[in-house]
Amino acid sequence: MKSSSATALAHPNIAFIKYWGNRDNVLRLPSNGSISMNLDGLFTRTAVSFQPSLRLDTLTINGHEVTGKGLTRVSQILDIVRKISGINAKAEVVSQNNFPAGAGIASSAAAFSALALAASKAAGLDLSEAELSRLARRGSGSASRSIPGGFVEWQMGSGDEDCYAFSIAPPEHWRLADCVAIVSAAHKKTGSTEGHALAPTSPLQNARVEDSARRLTLCREAIFQRDFEALAEIIEIDSDMMHAVMMTSNPPLMYWQPATLGIFHAVREWRASGFPAAYTVDAGANVHVICLKEYAAETEKRLRELPGVSETLVAETGGAARLVNG
Ligand code: DP6
Repeated sequence: MKSSSATALAHPNIAFIKYWGNRDNVLRLPSNGSISMNLDGLFTRTAVSFQPSLRLDTLTINGHEVTGKGLTRVSQILDIVRKISGINAKAEVVSQNNFPAGAGIASSAAAFSALALAASKAAGLDLSEAELSRLARRGSGSASRSIPGGFVEWQMGSGDEDCYAFSIAPPEHWRLADCVAIVSAAHKKTGSTEGHALAPTSPLQNARVEDSARRLTLCREAIFQRDFEALAEIIEIDSDMMHAVMMTSNPPLMYWQPATLGIFHAVREWRASGFPAAYTVDAGANVHVICLKEYAAETEKRLRELPGVSETLVAETGGAARLVNG
C-alpha cells in the first residue's frame, strides 16, 4: 500500500441544550439529545497520513508530540477507520488549533470531527455525514455535532446506528454570536469524560434527562422562529440544570467561580432592560454569552468591564467540517 493522506478542518461548537451523562460510556451514547451552534473563525485543522513504514500511530498537536492517553484516544478512532477500510498501516496525525488552550472552548469537538473526516478520507472511505458524525462521536460526544453545519441537533437514537447529529438550520438562518468571557480558574478542572461518568451519581440527573425532550423542542422552535427571548430562557435554564447535576454529583463538580456568577447577574439585568444576551457555561468557569451578531461588539465591551473577566473572544455561527488542501 502507498501512503495516503487527507486534511480536514472543523469548528468547535457551543451547546444550547447540553450533553451530560452517557447511557453507554464506551460508545458515547448520550443520556439525552443536545443542540448546538458551530463557531466560525475558530478551528482545528488535522492532517492524517497512513504510512506502511510507521510502527505506531503518532500525534502532534500545535507542534508538540502527544503520547499516552491523548494518543490512545486518537488511535481508537484510527482503529475503527482501519477496521472499516481494511487498511493495516499506522498513521501520522498532525493537528493545529487556531484558538488558545484554556480559552474556554472545548477543543475535543473540533479535534475529533476533523480527525474523523481526515482519517476516513485518507483511508479511501467516502462516509456520509451521519456516518462521520457517528465516528466523531466515538472520540468525543460533542464532536458528533461539529460535523454538520450551522445549528445542529445530536439525536440520542436507540443505539450506535442512529446516534448522530444533523443540521437543523444553516449558519445564515440566524446570525448569532458567542462572546466568551474568560474567567481565570485557579483549579485544574475535571475533564468532561470523567464528568459524564459521575452524572448518574446526582439525584438530579434523572429529572434533567426526563425533561430533556421538552427543552429540546423549545430550543429547536426558538431557533426556527429566530425568537431570541425564547432561546435565552431555555439555554440559561438548560445550562443551570447541567451545573446543578455537576454540583450534586459524588464527588461534586463545582466549575463556577465568583466572576462566573457575576456575569450571570449582569447578563440577566441587560436582558431585562432590553439588551438581547443570554449565558451558557460548559465544563469550566468561562461564560459563553450568546447574542445577536449586531450586538457582539457591545456585549464584548460590557463583558470586559465586569470584575474577573480577563479576556473575551467572539465567534459567529459557523459551517460544517470540510476537507482542505494539506
Ligand atoms: C459540558 O463531548 O467534551 O461541553 O464525550 O467525554 O469528550 P466527551 O465529552 P464532551 O462533553 C461536552 C460537555 C459539555 C456540554 C456539551 O457540549 O453538550
